[in-house]
Amino acid sequence: MNVNSAAVVDRHSGFHVECIRAMFPALHRDPSFIFFDNAAGAQVPQIVLDAVNEHLVERNVQRGGRYRHSRQVDATIARARESVGIFLNARDPSEIAFGMNATSFIRIVSLAIGQTLQKRNEIIVTDMDHEANVATWLALQREGAKFLWWKMRADGNLHPDDLKPLLSSRTRLVACTVASNALGSIVDVAAAAKLAHEAGAEIFLDCVHYGPHAVMDVQAFDCDYLVCSGYKIFSPHMGFLWGRRKLLEKLPTFREEFIPDEPPGKIEAGTFIYENVAGMDAAVSYLENLGKTLVASEKERPATSKRAHLVRAMTAIRSYEETLSLELLRILRECGATIYGVREDHRVRERVPTLCFNLKKTAPAKVTETMADAGIGIRDGHMYTPRLMKRFGLRQDSGVVRISAVHYNTMEEIHRFADVLLDLSKHE
Ligand SMILES: Cc1ncc(COP(=O)(O)O)c(C=O)c1O
Repeated sequence: MNVNSAAVVDRHSGFHVECIRAMFPALHRDPSFIFFDNAAGAQVPQIVLDAVNEHLVERNVQRGGRYRHSRQVDATIARARESVGIFLNARDPSEIAFGMNATSFIRIVSLAIGQTLQKRNEIIVTDMDHEANVATWLALQREGAKFLWWKMRADGNLHPDDLKPLLSSRTRLVACTVASNALGSIVDVAAAAKLAHEAGAEIFLDCVHYGPHAVMDVQAFDCDYLVCSGYKIFSPHMGFLWGRRKLLEKLPTFREEFIPDEPPGKIEAGTFIYENVAGMDAAVSYLENLGKTLVASEKERPATSKRAHLVRAMTAIRSYEETLSLELLRILRECGATIYGVREDHRVRERVPTLCFNLKKTAPAKVTETMADAGIGIRDGHMYTPRLMKRFGLRQDSGVVRISAVHYNTMEEIHRFADVLLDLSKHE
């Protein structure tokens, strides 16, 4: 296939993909295998493995005890809360809660909001979201909630202009994604938040898919709640929730009598997986260290704070990933594939390198099986977005093919994927 070989070191930022890959043991365990299913979970760097290991060896005990190990667990959680807070640009670490995953946090918040519905009983959901951020809200019908649909346009994205007419003095909340886990589209959530607030409503953001790709900033998004999952951000399985302190204080969550009615404890009923929280803290350190190795652009002031290093890392990741998106779009077009979602090169800033497509005649499962035989991990199915499948006129059980890259993926890997796909498309 006719491709340009891309440089692995970006002259301007110093982004060096081979150095990055060297930090991920799974990537060199079997160097011939290509991880292109990162939307279902990314690999973890050594620093994360070390943190999880160290926690289990040194302090695998319950928090809240008076002995050394237990005090260290308390310190680990406090440190992780602080670093995840900085990662999200939270105003205070107490706005961060740790738990099992994103879905259970959406459920915790939705159950609480369900108890507070009065005249404002309308919830706006989208047809582009992961079902976790749709069905969880729809379950509030029993509490008297009414639902309005903010629909994706045919151009593959949600437009704040379409949200405007849905909002009114009856709107309680808008639930929407920051980036689609199926199509990769990035939503203008700051514009959506502004509209929601003008109507006196709140906005709940699902940042699970956006997290590994760009700068998260709850203050710039101006959201009210935001949920994320560690396993896409180079950490083990765990989830975290951010909420405005004032709103979290009012939220009627389930908690035992002896737990103070204060965030974050009131949203963290039961034990969560401390070693994975230590892993998430280390994943933030990994990104911070990456930021430290990058060269400042001429416009930037030298980075001194943890937040500044994180912003630099995520900005460089986003810029590198745009080159991956452009190459994937080019290849899919060359193969005559139907691309679902944002497909124009000039709109590349509106997406992350997560692409859904179908070949003309080859079933999605056949494409992923052929890729698996060639040592390439990608996925087929509905991507937990059954409403999108319906809109595209696709059967839920067969769905689409999804390739999802992150910053440790290379152009060479994309070209290996391209060779297999082109061969398949030629034999259709
Ligand atoms: C956008 C989005 N939201 C929610 C979820 C569910 O996350 P979790 O598995 O942590 O509950 C996912 C998982 O893939 C996702 O991509």
